[in-house]
Amino acid sequence: MGSTVYLETIGCQMNVADSERADVRLRAAGFDLSQSPETADVIIFNTCSVRERAANKVFTRIGEVRRQRLGREPVVGVMGCVAQLEGKTLFDNSPSVNLIVGTRATDRLPELVNRALEGERRVIDLDERADGEKWDVPATARTSKYVAFVPIIEGCNKFCTYCIVPFSRGREKSRAASDIVAEIRELRDHGYREIHLIGQNVNSYRPGTEAGLEGFKGATAFCRLLRAAAATGMERIKFTTSFPRDFHPDIVAAIDEHENLCEWVHLPVQSGSDRVLRAMRRGHTASDYMARIAAIKKARRRMAITSDIIVGFPGETEADFRETLKLVGQVGYDALFIFKYSERPGTPAARLDDDVSRSEKTARFLELEEMQQQLQQKTYESYLGRVIKVLVERTSLKSDQDMSGHSTCHKVVNFPGGSAALGEVVSVRVTEAKPNSLYGQVTQAI
Ligand code: 5AD
Ligand code: SF4
Repeated sequence: MGSTVYLETIGCQMNVADSERADVRLRAAGFDLSQSPETADVIIFNTCSVRERAANKVFTRIGEVRRQRLGREPVVGVMGCVAQLEGKTLFDNSPSVNLIVGTRATDRLPELVNRALEGERRVIDLDERADGEKWDVPATARTSKYVAFVPIIEGCNKFCTYCIVPFSRGREKSRAASDIVAEIRELRDHGYREIHLIGQNVNSYRPGTEAGLEGFKGATAFCRLLRAAAATGMERIKFTTSFPRDFHPDIVAAIDEHENLCEWVHLPVQSGSDRVLRAMRRGHTASDYMARIAAIKKARRRMAITSDIIVGFPGETEADFRETLKLVGQVGYDALFIFKYSERPGTPAARLDDDVSRSEKTARFLELEEMQQQLQQKTYESYLGRVIKVLVERTSLKSDQDMSGHSTCHKVVNFPGGSAALGEVVSVRVTEAKPNSLYGQVTQAI
């Protein structure tokens, strides 16, 4: 029997996708994946460092898991952003760690795990992904049977001053369009109903060649990729995250042309104040951003728009924060992810004085959250009586009489039903608007 590996993911969709790839590579090399950290031979944490709290979580988890252990000491590995950034200092600071796998070394994981199992005390690989290395995860090896994440670009060249990602994930590297399209086709053939094209900035997609995009029109490579993805006939295609400066209106045109490109755009603004945006080095002003929003709102289809906001960036005044409230009020987001600024060592903003007090950050967070809740309630209520298409993904977390899934506009929708509908797309008439989800009745299975 092969050794058993327990793999735990902390962090974003890119980490989830990396874990999936790690899972596949490990199984292919003869390892058994285990759900129990108590007995596994190898324990790997796939880590996130975008905010301090996430970065610290891995240390808490290592302690917790080691206390629960039955039997001998496992190999303890750290992969992902914390591994990439901390490098070998992790060995010194966490003596139980004996395997460190950087963000571009996922595909080399089996060989690294084997070295650790053979007794090598400190195994570390922080190297780049080799050219020509495949990113594919076969349809048969994925965690969900209906929804798949497909990375199209990894890394980031933007260097927003608060952000650790350009350091933890390195420079942007786009995947060949022909590989992406082939993967989508394979997923479609295996019955997948929805894919998410993912990347730190999907719309900065810039492959070395146009192979796979021949014959598709579009103002940018990403627009051509969207049309090529739509042409595969995959039922639902979502994409995230978009970067405002590179958000070409042709993306909206592509969504208008193709029913299977979903009507949802995640376009983080981070702040509504030009002064703060400049200090964040986002490369856009509030009015540049609002011009993108106007283009999205002019679409034939009614688009859902979501965003990320950081409150309490160094130097953010009460007046700056009011600008953020104003912008949020103008856009009317379908959902908003609000973060308190968290200083990340090594980023340019870490050299600034983190001068917005903790209580002020909390006050701004709560005020913005309250405002968003009120606006969101109105948006959600506007769906009452409408029929929307929902991919049935699981039993509801709150009631086992209900099923749960997402709409094409990426809202969580619950409705009474049984597990027979799993993996199906159903039409749901919305009867209730909850704070973060919709409730309704199935009108027909399609
Ligand atoms: N502090 C707080 N939030 C951050 N984000 C990124 N870096 C930081 C930081 N240092 C947020 C941004 C980004 C989201 C993924 O995380 O809003 O869009
Ligand atoms: Fe970070 Fe900015 Fe890159 Fe997003 S675009 S990953 S916020 S540096």
